[in-house]
Amino acid sequence: MDGNGRWATARGKSRSEGHREGAQAIDRLMDASLELGLKNISLYAFSTENWKRPVTEIRSIFNLLVEFIDTRLDRIHSRGIRILHSGSRKRLTRGVLDKIDFAAETTRKNKKLTVNFCLNYGSRDELLRAAQEAFLRRKREKVPFEKPLKEKELEKFLYTSALPPVDLLIRTAGEQRLSNFLLWQSAYAELYFTDTLWPDFDKTALVHSLDWYGARTRKFGGLTNG
Ligand code: FPP
Repeated sequence: MDGNGRWATARGKSRSEGHREGAQAIDRLMDASLELGLKNISLYAFSTENWKRPVTEIRSIFNLLVEFIDTRLDRIHSRGIRILHSGSRKRLTRGVLDKIDFAAETTRKNKKLTVNFCLNYGSRDELLRAAQEAFLRRKREKVPFEKPLKEKELEKFLYTSALPPVDLLIRTAGEQRLSNFLLWQSAYAELYFTDTLWPDFDKTALVHSLDWYGARTRKFGGLTNG
């Protein structure tokens, strides 16, 4: 969700105000996704590298997340949206963890749309953790370490184990990097880059990206579709 800062600066506003506008773009994205029948969205809200930002900005992002859940959870729940969290729980405050856990628990049976908040998320961190967990499981269950590790065995321990692989990865605000986001899950994702700043990313922009995606031929390493 890049471009909140630039959106704000261009209007003489603070970066926090840009993030607030970014949160509203999430509202619009959820509405549009329900209308269009999308099933899963993952949002990169805070990376393991974002701790390098000034503490005031970090605080404003987490405050916004808490406010987002406080003010939207009823509506989210009543519309059949399930909330998930992907990311490390280390360094997140009790208040943030309680809020996101409450949102996930409240909405866990919802089936219309899953919105996965990637918060304190980094793909390398996730993969290291998954490998560690997979080997600990082998130790517990006395599976020989020599037995080659299978993809499925590792995937069980990814934060996103409940989600399918990424089909379409959208990066806004002109950036063209993966920035440690869902690297395993995006192995065959189509990558869509747009100059639109995240706060301006609306239903029209989403439909545009989906039209682009629809015109792609997905080969998954083979020669024909599928
Ligand atoms: C990247 O843009 C954005 C972030 C690191 C934070 C994203 C956070 C939100 C959209 C709001 C949080 C709210 C919820 C509900 C999770 P940037 O700040 O790097 O923008 P820039 O590249 O223009 O500086």
